Amino acid sequence: MMSLFTIPNLGGAHLGGWRHPAAYANTVMNLDQAIEVAKLAERGKFDGVFLADGNGVRDMDKPALFAANHPSARPGVFDPVVLMTALATHTTRLGLVSTATTTFDEPFHIARRFASLDHISHGRAGWNLVTASNPGDALNFNHSEFVSREDRYGRAEEFIEVVRGLWDSWAEDAFVQDQGAGQYLDPARVRKLNHQGKYFRVAGPLNVPRTPQGHPVVFMAGQSARGKDLAARQADAMFGAGDSKESCQADYADIKSRMVRLGRNPDTLRFIPGVSIFVAETSGEADDLYGELNELISPALGVAYLSKIVTRDLTEFPVDGPLPEVPDTVIGGSSVRSFVLKMARRENLTIRQTYQRVVPGFGSPVIKGNPAQVADALEDWYAGKACDGFMISNPIMPVALRNVVDLVVPELQRRGLFRKEYDGPTLRDHMGLPKPDNAYFSNTGLAAE
Ligand SMILES: Cc1cc2nc3c(=O)[nH]c(=O)nc-3n(C[C@H](O)[C@H](O)[C@H](O)COP(=O)(O)O)c2cc1C
Repeated sequence: MMSLFTIPNLGGAHLGGWRHPAAYANTVMNLDQAIEVAKLAERGKFDGVFLADGNGVRDMDKPALFAANHPSARPGVFDPVVLMTALATHTTRLGLVSTATTTFDEPFHIARRFASLDHISHGRAGWNLVTASNPGDALNFNHSEFVSREDRYGRAEEFIEVVRGLWDSWAEDAFVQDQGAGQYLDPARVRKLNHQGKYFRVAGPLNVPRTPQGHPVVFMAGQSARGKDLAARQADAMFGAGDSKESCQADYADIKSRMVRLGRNPDTLRFIPGVSIFVAETSGEADDLYGELNELISPALGVAYLSKIVTRDLTEFPVDGPLPEVPDTVIGGSSVRSFVLKMARRENLTIRQTYQRVVPGFGSPVIKGNPAQVADALEDWYAGKACDGFMISNPIMPVALRNVVDLVVPELQRRGLFRKEYDGPTLRDHMGLPKPDNAYFSNTGLAAE
């Protein structure tokens, strides 16, 4: 069964989306709209919603972009786990995946926060583990520069082991709560972690009991070899970043073969690449929406956005001239950057042509057309082992998501590619992921000390 997630970005996943007459107005810190979007995704039987996140306001050095509601600038966003907790009380089945970084946080905090969300949502929590992509965030956490990739991954590798160890602190039946006998918990059914490593010293146990899913679902999205190896060892899902079906097929085969080399069953990780969907009743209407949104992007804004992606100020170059040379490597996340550069070089694109290609999907591949055409494309990717599902960006909210739910989902259901009803209550159930065993306790006794 295909998995479907969506990014509930209220301003839309297109630079012009928030300005369109059909878009939500007043989206800043708007909980009511976020609830409406979550309910919409649940009506569409989506596996879940997924919140990207950072720990700082970006793009202040690019005023044209900063002033124009660029989603990853994030000048006004809820803490994602706090928002997910609110959404949990307005939904019953929808998975709630939230990003949190191992670079600036502590394992105990993350283990506790996501375990709490898993309890509050009755088994619908997911954590997108990132090492952080914005170098500037480091300045909010007592650093004077970005932590090196080497250290970020060293920390992340130990971090996830500590978090999983903490999630295994308690046997499932530890909290006896026998009012008659006066026994609240069974002290034999809890275990200290006593972790001592290079980056962390954590005694444990966690002050949250074993959660409904055992462990919340862990997503990752790192694109470096080290990031992919960590995902192959530890992730339940990978948020993929390919520019085409073919690149996703290569990434899919790559991550699954890494898992096999590590002795892991490749079906225990779901590969979910991002796509941006423009769908309407007719392909003509979908084209019109695409054109209308692109009309809302001035060349100055398009160039500012592309400058950010390629990490070079392009304003001094003619917009109808070629994309100039840019350094090959940069600090921080760079997957969109590298495929944009490859595409521009391969196809000899001008600056204007490049930003026009990139803006509509914010770097994700665009799938556009009537419901059958969009379903054809999704089926083609899924059947062609380019993915196990999709992370859907919606260029204009809530219209684009509503169109996916009302037009594309029924078509996928008709084709037997997507659920008509949720089978089980948890996010693991939706994604077909096994519930992890407790490393320290079986349900019948203490397995290890
Ligand atoms: C599709 C995708 C989504 C990502 N989302 C986030 C995010 O929301 N917040 C963040 O800090 N990093 C995000 N990242 C960054 C990565 O998870 C990772 O930490 C970063 O790319 C550095 O690792 P790498 O060098 O292995 O790619 C994302 C990356 C990709 C490819």
